[in-house]
Amino acid sequence: MTIAVEWVTNNERPLHVQIADSLRGRFERGDFHPADHLPTTRDLARDLGVSRSTVVRAYEQLTREGWIEGRVGMGTLVRAKSSTEARATPNWDLLLTDRVRDQNLEYADVLRMLSRTDLLSFAGGLPSPEFYPGEPLQQIAGEVLRQQGPRLLQWCPVDGYPPLRSWIAERIESTPENVLVLSGSTQGLHLIAQAFIDPGDAVLVESPTYAGALRSFRAAGARIVSVPSGPDGIDLEELETTLQRVRPKFLYVIPTYHNPTGSSLTVEKRRRLLALVARHGLPIVEDDAYSSLRYDGPHYPSLRSLDENGLVIYVSTFSKAVFPGLRVGWLVAPADLVRRLSGLRNLIDLFTNSLTQATLYEFCKRGLLEAHLQHVRPIYEERRDAMAAALRRYCPGISFDVPHGGLFIWARLPRGIDSRHLLEESINLGLGFMVGPLFYAEGGGDDRIRLCFACHPPDAIAAGIRKLGVALKQVQPDSGDWREVRAEGFVV
Ligand SMILES: Cc1ncc(COP(=O)(O)O)c(C=O)c1O
Repeated sequence: MTIAVEWVTNNERPLHVQIADSLRGRFERGDFHPADHLPTTRDLARDLGVSRSTVVRAYEQLTREGWIEGRVGMGTLVRAKSSTEARATPNWDLLLTDRVRDQNLEYADVLRMLSRTDLLSFAGGLPSPEFYPGEPLQQIAGEVLRQQGPRLLQWCPVDGYPPLRSWIAERIESTPENVLVLSGSTQGLHLIAQAFIDPGDAVLVESPTYAGALRSFRAAGARIVSVPSGPDGIDLEELETTLQRVRPKFLYVIPTYHNPTGSSLTVEKRRRLLALVARHGLPIVEDDAYSSLRYDGPHYPSLRSLDENGLVIYVSTFSKAVFPGLRVGWLVAPADLVRRLSGLRNLIDLFTNSLTQATLYEFCKRGLLEAHLQHVRPIYEERRDAMAAALRRYCPGISFDVPHGGLFIWARLPRGIDSRHLLEESINLGLGFMVGPLFYAEGGGDDRIRLCFACHPPDAIAAGIRKLGVALKQVQPDSGDWREVRAEGFVV
């Protein structure tokens, strides 16, 4: 029997959820028998007057829950659910809130694709593990434990291990009351989202921008509004126009060595941005994850240091300067707001690991952070140049700007090449990178890829980019000038 689906849209919930709910109700009432046929997604979409992808999502949901299954050549059938399965297993998907259920899973899918250990990967946004200062940190951790003993392992103030909080404040010319130490800057973005965003509130972001920030804002229910960001950062004219029609809670920007574009705002543009947001009373969340990784070009002052109106909340991290496993970041904000945010933080995570904070403090105080940065900067610079040279050599048709700092080259693919398709081909050749669409809140970036240059020596970078050249050739054989690639006998 083929099931006839009747359905009346009756509330504000997403259509695919309503369709799934309606069918599930009927499965639960026993209206259908195992092996009954559901209409095809195309037929049901037509009958209900919704898009086919809406029906596909509803069927996917019911498949995950075990109510239905797709069989080759037979279509979609009602599944015989065993009574124990039906009763004993909680239906986790059903229990999830809409905002979690509707989260974009594409990011997780791409990470899964990239998790193969045999890949030469330009995907991560990380410094290179080969230079992680494991030995000095190990020694210092032993020392601080010996000297401070159990006291160190007691509770630590929620706003941070006081010496580290003071060290950070001094370094950025602030005061400890304005600093909140975090378990990574991701926690700061989450706290800001929880503190300011009610479901439906608008938040402005650059397009493209850091995918993790998009996830934090979305999870809080934000309506994300994008402002284009190019080789010299956010487009101020577009920002001005956007502010005439939207009243956002804040603007999130990465002004220095942007992720993913690598771009930086000039000092003059920083001042213009600050003047513009001041006219609108619009707070800025400045994410400054990468400024310590400067290779050449001018030194850029943070927006926070130029802000005369107290509009900037500044977020930064040790993850890129030292390594991400430490999980230490910080934010800087007016003292009252720091108190609010630290109260909020107390709800999810009492305080940042105190042994890590004490070790990191000693590491910084002894000048080892600066020494570490001085060691890695020229190495990453050489790797950046190696990647740029290899792209020019092996990937004709790709265009990009060479960033003055950070970890990424943001490349535009030759016309007509889709980054996801290119990634599939590249993974077959043993190469990974990040695809552009992940960095866009409202679509775009199909023709972009992000390449992290920090984690491999120049010869491995050249070999990897050569594979990229081969993958490009396979995806679109007629684009570009491929003589270089052929001459080296790499075409398969
Ligand atoms: C712009 C930006 N902000 C924040 C983070 C997250 O840093 P953390 O490890 O401190 O959570 C990243 C990591 O990729 C990033 O690129």
